[in-house]
Amino acid sequence: QSIRLFPYNIILIGFMGTGKSAIGDRLSQLLRMECIDTDVLIERQMKTSIAKMFEEHGEKYFREAEKDMVKRVSYRKNTIISCGGGVVLHPDNVKQLKDNGKIVLLSAHPEIIYERVKEDQNLPVLKGNMSIEFIQKKMEERKDKYESAADIIVDTSNKDKEEICQEIVYKL
Ligand code: S3P
Repeated sequence: QSIRLFPYNIILIGFMGTGKSAIGDRLSQLLRMECIDTDVLIERQMKTSIAKMFEEHGEKYFREAEKDMVKRVSYRKNTIISCGGGVVLHPDNVKQLKDNGKIVLLSAHPEIIYERVKEDQNLPVLKGNMSIEFIQKKMEERKDKYESAADIIVDTSNKDKEEICQEIVYKL
């Protein structure tokens, strides 16, 4: 029997490496809500990787696919939606997601993000620029967009998954 504590979608946003996918999976078990990941759905639909989409067609093409996917998934109910790190770049995405859900911004210190993502080959935004300084710069560029989209903010630096999930559930 599932207990439906949250009659809305829980939307996870935040920079790459802030833990959106891992936290989405754990929250999904704890709250017995289905969890979906927009990046996974885009890759499945386009039958290619995000890195290839950027390489072959450019970032704009990926952002359009992302916008279409956000539109589709935001109509869902009682779902945890883990979004790509750049989802806030398009104001329509935030509006769509907010209509049916509460937005949880996961944050982390650039040094910690660097440690988490440095070996990841499927992050075209950081390709050729994998450094703490570049991560910091990109985060700064997006800061206002992340913060104005967020209903709650949870820092994931130096915390384990259980603590982070508890904090989210408590704050929501
Ligand atoms: C991006 C983040 C990625 C993915 C794409 C672009 C970004 O998602 O959507 O590579 O612009 O921050 P994750 O944050 O899940 O890695």
